[in-house]
Amino acid sequence: MRKALVVGNWKMNGTGSSIDLLMQGLIAQLASCSSGIVVCPPNVYLDQVRGHIEQTTISMGGQNIDWHDNGAFTGEVSAEMLADLGCDFVLVGHSERRTLFGETSEDVAMKCEASLSKGIIPILCVGETQAQRQNGETQDVITSQLVPVFDKLDSDAMAKVVIAYEPVWAIGTGRTASPQQADDVHAFIRQTLAEKDLNTANNIQILYGGSVNASNAVELFGMQNIDGALVGGASLDAASFLAICQAAVLV
Ligand code: 13P
Repeated sequence: MRKALVVGNWKMNGTGSSIDLLMQGLIAQLASCSSGIVVCPPNVYLDQVRGHIEQTTISMGGQNIDWHDNGAFTGEVSAEMLADLGCDFVLVGHSERRTLFGETSEDVAMKCEASLSKGIIPILCVGETQAQRQNGETQDVITSQLVPVFDKLDSDAMAKVVIAYEPVWAIGTGRTASPQQADDVHAFIRQTLAEKDLNTANNIQILYGGSVNASNAVELFGMQNIDGALVGGASLDAASFLAICQAAVLV
């Protein structure tokens, strides 16, 4: 049985005071949630969030890492640095990183390897654009994003990864994939993984991301292959994020 996981990607949003309010709001109602919960603040607020989540079941993640251990990489942050600040997770290969910052799937694979080497779970993001879906290329795109990671990680390492399917056309648009559309891609990801390792395919958590909100979460979580959500906009509001976490009960 896979456990539900809800991850909030705050992206480049928040201030010291808004984050205090958000965390206080989340923690006040935490007892109503049974899923795993992860928040991914901007790096500069990790230490502040760490102060809030001590003694709670909330975990913390970074939004990106550099795959090098250290060195002359101005502005970058390593997996070890995130681990030092109390992160258990890191988002890897978010579509905004791929499209705005030119990350390739090979870079993404190296980031997965680097994070696992420091005990951090990579949340590997994959997803197609609108044009790619219209051209019937969704499965090819997902495969091309997964294969470099499969090539780099052995089965034991792969079993630790979380995958997030985020169709680019559903991110921040208010246009979520239908539960069936999402489940079809999740099933395809599981099937692709099964060719490498059946046990990992059955047990890996695959989250859906793209305009998840309190109203569509229940239906999405009702699908067989959807194990949780990667939430952007709605994770910035305590009530909305909590409603999604409360809906994340897998049956
Ligand atoms: P939205 O939930 O705002 O569509 O963002 C999704 C996302 O990109 C999470 O990583």
